[in-house]
Amino acid sequence: MRVYNFSAGPSMIFENVLAKASSEMLDYNNTGISVCEMSHRSAPYVAIVEETISLFRELLKIPQNYKVLLLQGGATMQFDAVPLNLMNKHKKADYVVTGNFAKKSASFAKHYGDVNIVANTFDKNNTYIPKLSELNFSNDVDYCHITSNNTIFGTRYTEFPTTLAPLVCDMSSDILSRNIDISKFGLIYAGAQKNIGPAGLTVVIIREDLIGNALEICPTMLDYKTQADENSLYNTPSCYPIYMAMLTLRHLKELGGLSEVEKHNNTKANLLYDFIDNSSFYTNNVESEYRSIMNVPFTTSSKELDELFVKESSKNRIASIKGHKLVGGMRASIYNAMPIEGIYHLVEFMKKFELENK
Ligand SMILES: Cc1ncc(COP(=O)(O)O)c(C=O)c1O
Repeated sequence: MRVYNFSAGPSMIFENVLAKASSEMLDYNNTGISVCEMSHRSAPYVAIVEETISLFRELLKIPQNYKVLLLQGGATMQFDAVPLNLMNKHKKADYVVTGNFAKKSASFAKHYGDVNIVANTFDKNNTYIPKLSELNFSNDVDYCHITSNNTIFGTRYTEFPTTLAPLVCDMSSDILSRNIDISKFGLIYAGAQKNIGPAGLTVVIIREDLIGNALEICPTMLDYKTQADENSLYNTPSCYPIYMAMLTLRHLKELGGLSEVEKHNNTKANLLYDFIDNSSFYTNNVESEYRSIMNVPFTTSSKELDELFVKESSKNRIASIKGHKLVGGMRASIYNAMPIEGIYHLVEFMKKFELENK
């Protein structure tokens, strides 16, 4: 029996996407072979890459002067690739540190130049996002880096800053969850394993003028120009995850695009936050205006009860709800593919657990 999977990533994939992939596993589109066995230079596979890129463009309304790159190495590889490609003039970048991944990305960048920490929210264990008006970005930097959604701490930007230098954003845990104005950004990157598909694919959306000026020390495979010139097929790509991403993107389009997806995500998140806020048993410490609609951390009154919650929930069709060790308690990751029934199911379990353990 399938369960509701609240994992932070790899995480739920739409059931009909899994079913479609399963139905095509042995014979993709009358080719007589599986996508897993297919040459990445073959016409049917090149068509998969092209459709995937074109669906990204359509759903995210990506302007013409941007390239979509389908890469590997995870978002973590981008922590190096971004400075290696962009820290080319001032040798300096601004970073806003709003969580662990943001901190990590800034620490990687220090290998290549000066990193200016514009703000750091560890003072309150990353329970907020700094006010945009208080973020003093520099003018003499090569780029400014932010993390749109903080997977571990459950915060997100509700609006994005306007910066003089190109704005770079790690969008790993909320890409495709809401409408955004791509033209505000110079570069966006995201690992696939939350809202796009299985792990193994990393998407980079980059303004064309930022391609082609990598540092001399930049390895060929980390230079965006390498893949941009070859339509992401310079070498063997993550073939199967790209195909699964295509199926997911087709499904998002069928759902009505990102405006519909965003509405649905807001409804799901509000249901859960309203329940937590009206309960004296559960707590979420994030400042309400910065609460993520993708990752919802919460605790009970004690560590022991939290542990019991995780244990009991796993017997009730709820998987991977244990919180990250930096926050403790529980974390419900409710990405695009989590159906609203999963939230109803979780809330019912939370009510029952409260009654039994108050
Ligand atoms: C916001 C964010 N950035 C970066 C990462 C690291 O991604 P990867 O494991 O794909 O390198 C994660 C993973 O959860 C994340 O949530």
